[in-house]
Amino acid sequence: MKYSQNPKFPDGFLWGASSAAWQVEGGTDAGGRTPAIIDLNSQTKKPYADNSVASDHYHHYKEDVALMKECGFTSYRFSLSWSRIIPAADRKVNPKGIEFYNNLINELVAAGITPIVTLYHYDMPVWVDEKYGGWYDRGIIDEFDYYCRVCFEHFGDRVKYWLSINEQNMQIIYGDWLGVSKGSKNWFEEKWQVNHIMNMCHAKAVVACHEMVEDGKIGPVPGYVPIYPETCKPEDQIGALNAEELTQKIWNDFYYYREYSTFVQSYWKENKIDPKILPGDMEFMKEAKIDFIAVNCYRSDVGKWPDPTFKQEIGLNKSGIKGDFTYPNFPGEYALARNPFVEVTDWDWHIDPVCMRYSLRYMWNLYHLPMVITEAGYGAHEDVDENGEIHDPERIEYLREYAYNVGLAIQDGVEVFGFNPWSFTDLLSTGNGMAKRYGLVFVNRTDDDLRDLRRIKKESFYWYSRLIKSNGTDWGKEMK
Ligand code: BG6
Repeated sequence: MKYSQNPKFPDGFLWGASSAAWQVEGGTDAGGRTPAIIDLNSQTKKPYADNSVASDHYHHYKEDVALMKECGFTSYRFSLSWSRIIPAADRKVNPKGIEFYNNLINELVAAGITPIVTLYHYDMPVWVDEKYGGWYDRGIIDEFDYYCRVCFEHFGDRVKYWLSINEQNMQIIYGDWLGVSKGSKNWFEEKWQVNHIMNMCHAKAVVACHEMVEDGKIGPVPGYVPIYPETCKPEDQIGALNAEELTQKIWNDFYYYREYSTFVQSYWKENKIDPKILPGDMEFMKEAKIDFIAVNCYRSDVGKWPDPTFKQEIGLNKSGIKGDFTYPNFPGEYALARNPFVEVTDWDWHIDPVCMRYSLRYMWNLYHLPMVITEAGYGAHEDVDENGEIHDPERIEYLREYAYNVGLAIQDGVEVFGFNPWSFTDLLSTGNGMAKRYGLVFVNRTDDDLRDLRRIKKESFYWYSRLIKSNGTDWGKEMK
């Protein structure tokens, strides 16, 4: 196969970056917002970091949007905080919450930046949790529907790209980490009930968006980690397929086909799991036809047939924190392993730009739906140097190679309409606070010291700006 040196990005391609309310906003008790469960986690659960200030985007949004404009952004993906918009169980809409998001959206639109808005990104309001036990009770379905409708009513005139629930698959797989399982001892079975309720919520959002937003488009946001078989041993192919099904394909198939796959149905039967589907649910879900898929893709994994004698290896991670990272091994299902052909980040995430092209090709072959990249990014320890600057060549290399592989996927015939890596400014990582920075723009604070929260453009900001302004032709070096 022979390619031109530069893959061509379509005109109007959406170049931007991504964030989530609880990780960037701060202002957790400002403007009538009430607490979310993730606030409580961030204040009590280590290594989460307190999100009450985060990057203080709540007070710096104008400056942040001005920087996006300077960089040349044509899109920005962010999430809405449910408890900022509806702070209590009385369902009263908070005018100050609406005002904040109206201001942000207006600022973006005035800067020529297309908003891409996630309805839910891990920040369950405490009042919803108290009333319904989080995602455990079907009562949340109507509550979520109501919340989505409020969002569509207030912002749907300017926001045309909507995302339903961020990384539902990861919330189910890492239920404890992301606060969904509530420490349940019976999560193995309950997760499928919770997942069904989340699917109903996703479907409500899709149906309401199409009903209420003129020309509105909506899609899910799977956390996509493609799985490569470790060897060509036949059993490893099945292990890798199982890993793919149980970590992502079950979800993606559901979003696309709006029915549960035969794989998951037989998995439930085999494991005597009742997901508690009620009459009428499946008929309703059939109406929820998605318009695109938003893809979060940072890395790949290696799958294999599990080894019954396997012992967890401890202390594998590059940053040397013992016991921080272990590969799962599920007897009879699958195991994951380190890929010796790629580098890893300080947190042992595989750095694999080719996985971007691979994922887009793979998903396109399965679903033939347009896709937008809503996350990919390089998390690193960083601080200003003696000249007050931040040089982040590893991030530049990561973003260059990942974006280039998006271009190659487009050249392969895949429909992709945007690239929005994680993140614009530094923000709190889910589990590592400011210690794990992702931004193109440095936020001058650490986990323990709020300093002055100043924004400082990193070297990657300037590099990305040139790439955007050339619509993906100025890579800053020769690409092969
Ligand atoms: C994505 C999430 O899965 O990964 C983000 O949508 C998260 O919320 C990002 O921040 C990076 O993960 P982490 O743990 O490094 O923050």
